[in-house]
Amino acid sequence: MHRFTSRRLAPACLAVAAMLAATGAVQAQSAQGGKIKVGFMLPYTGTYAALGTAIENGFRMYVQQQGGKLGGRDIEYFKVDDESDPAKAPENATKLIKRDQVDVVVGTVHSGVQMGIVKVAKENNTLLIIPNAGVDEATGPLCGPNIFRSSFSNWQPGYAMGHVLADRGMKKVVTLTWKYAAGEQSVKGFKEAFESKGGKVVKELSLPFPNVEFQALITEVAALKPDAVFVFFAGGGAVKFVKDWAGAGLKDKIPLYGSGFLTDGTLEAQGNAAQGLETTLHYADGLSNARDKTFRLDYAKTYKLQPDVYAVQGYDAAQLLAAGANAVKGDMSRKADVYKAMESAKVDSPRGAFTLSKAHNPVQDFYLRKVDGRENKVSTVAVKALADPARGCRL
Ligand code: PHB
Repeated sequence: MHRFTSRRLAPACLAVAAMLAATGAVQAQSAQGGKIKVGFMLPYTGTYAALGTAIENGFRMYVQQQGGKLGGRDIEYFKVDDESDPAKAPENATKLIKRDQVDVVVGTVHSGVQMGIVKVAKENNTLLIIPNAGVDEATGPLCGPNIFRSSFSNWQPGYAMGHVLADRGMKKVVTLTWKYAAGEQSVKGFKEAFESKGGKVVKELSLPFPNVEFQALITEVAALKPDAVFVFFAGGGAVKFVKDWAGAGLKDKIPLYGSGFLTDGTLEAQGNAAQGLETTLHYADGLSNARDKTFRLDYAKTYKLQPDVYAVQGYDAAQLLAAGANAVKGDMSRKADVYKAMESAKVDSPRGAFTLSKAHNPVQDFYLRKVDGRENKVSTVAVKALADPARGCRL
């Protein structure tokens, strides 16, 4: 028979008491909200892997600069590698929302994957901040009160370049891209602006994402003898394309232009092949605002890397979240108030301050940049305060 001496009972009681106290503490903490749970759904493998890492770096750096807290609450991170695979997107987004119970999903890079995330976020009324993917639908027909973007719509950089080339008197342009929303919608934006000023897109060429067998297409472009070629490629694929283009001897024969992803975060790897390339984007090297100067110094110090547009978009995703979290003192259950504060935020971005359109997409300047060494040096503002038309968005 067990004899429960007070000596044996005491540790058990203490353990139970400690457990109850701990449970109470957890309950009290979650009544106040506990930590804000942030779910990164980003590509950590494949052609966009470096982009995902830069976004996460930028986001974490901003939070770190706020002492690790937003709205007075600590931040807890969850991560899923979305592999830039649209087929896995709904399941991956569901993991973060249902299993990890995140307060906000920060993702992603690839437009096709984004469509899956938007759908799941809408079904669950979970706050979503898109730190890159430009898919027009997210701030178009699929816009929603809980869907925000800190980056751009696919239409925007293409549209800016359409104006630049038309203003330079180009008449006949061939486009080349991966055949998925990002490429197709960039080309659409380009074409809209270019043809509105009298230019003509004479041929639209593409290959499946993320293929990098560019040779046959490059030969086809050369045979068409256009005034210029406009492309969308990014990440590892952009590195390969720019090198192949130069390797085919076309660099000084047919002017190559693109949305700025072609040369952002890629210049180290592209080397001489990228020199002199001109692109349009909502970020550039050599901007003169003070915010950018400190951002770049801090980023270089923290990560021993130069920041790129993806790091900026990640940083600004955190700034947007901060606007929401601060307005409710960290009580993320007050969703309508969070959304309202985010909607009216003026984000003090390294790219230059921006506000959001009604559809929650940045209204921002698009810079014309030119590659010089390891930099996409700003030349001019191609289009000022460009707002995506948000066709089909009812908010
Ligand atoms: C996209 O899929 O929307 C996308 C991917 C990479 C970029 C830009 C856009 O650099």
